[in-house]
Amino acid sequence: MTTPTIELKPSSNPLSDAEREAILASPGFGRHFTDHMVTIKWTEGRGWHDAELVPYAPLSIDPANMTLHYAQTIFEGMKAYRQPDGTVATFRPEANAERFQASARRMAMPELPTELFIEACDALIKQDSAWVPSSGEASLYLRPFMFATEVGLGVRPANEFLFMVIASPAGAYFAGGVKPVSVWLSEEYVRAVKGGTGAAKTGGNYAASLVAQAQAAAHGCDQVVWLDAVEHRWIEEMGGMNLYFVYGDRIVTPELTGSLLPGITRDSLLTIARDLGYTAEEGRISTEDWKRDNENGTLTEVFACGTAAVITPVGSVKSDKASWTQGDGEPGEVTMKLRKALLDLQTGHRADTHGWMHPL
Ligand code: PLP
Ligand code: COI
Repeated sequence: MTTPTIELKPSSNPLSDAEREAILASPGFGRHFTDHMVTIKWTEGRGWHDAELVPYAPLSIDPANMTLHYAQTIFEGMKAYRQPDGTVATFRPEANAERFQASARRMAMPELPTELFIEACDALIKQDSAWVPSSGEASLYLRPFMFATEVGLGVRPANEFLFMVIASPAGAYFAGGVKPVSVWLSEEYVRAVKGGTGAAKTGGNYAASLVAQAQAAAHGCDQVVWLDAVEHRWIEEMGGMNLYFVYGDRIVTPELTGSLLPGITRDSLLTIARDLGYTAEEGRISTEDWKRDNENGTLTEVFACGTAAVITPVGSVKSDKASWTQGDGEPGEVTMKLRKALLDLQTGHRADTHGWMHPL
């Protein structure tokens, strides 16, 4: 089957410069969207077709659309950064394309070729490049996603899908900038089990997490930390971020057990940390290890990482059984060094020695 080329049908009525600038002055996260979107259809027997870049607009959905009932839907998150020379670049888009394919396989959906995934993102960024913030760590967040468009109530893989890319200017994910977050250890609810969908970026994982997120909020915490579903002891990840534990100059992230999302930031930090002279490992950390090693001072820092959240320190921990301040509750030195190195790389202020940046 041939790969379609994206037909450009730009808006004749984009937002004015003044309106856009007002949004870019304080974009928040995921609240405003650019003037265009990409849509590519997939139909059984025909493959990918009708690739278009069109004005951003609502979709019309049949009430019996299969996604609304059975949630055959996946998504990605990646960012485009303004570079010092004014050009724009994305960070490891092929890694997002490959994870999108892995999510598609798990959810019995068609795989979008890497080139088409990247071409779709590039086309939208180029068209709406005025929306890429011009400085600092602000960025244009890309949200590629795919969902079933077949109409019907039979439970089986759909025979029609729509792939789309939308974009949203992003300031800090957590209002208030680099402020340590408080976390709730979820011992009642679990996010995923081995053999389930935890390693896929699919909507249902997020829907299933919301009750625990509400529980965290009720306990005065910002985020949920998920534990393994069998022993309820091993740290897995957070709602939209992976975790790192800092033992002096050694950093450890929970190993990929099949039930947590293989984060691209997580993966990048294993390499960046080694570049900076740290030891970086994947391992197993239990809730008891966390509490004990914090108390005896060997666990010096804990941070969360992800595309939207970049790197965010963890300042305090709470569960039904215990609560403690992580270290002195302030952002740690290693956390902030890694954060700067990652952002410097993404914004073109640090040499891209691993070929991770994709210039447009
Ligand atoms: N874990 C979950 C559940 C996520 O939703 C995300 C965000 O994408 C991450 C981890 C971090 O992944 P990445 O670094 O690829 O953004
Ligand atoms: C991301 O970091 O891209 C995410 O998808 C996290 C969250 C917004 C779901």
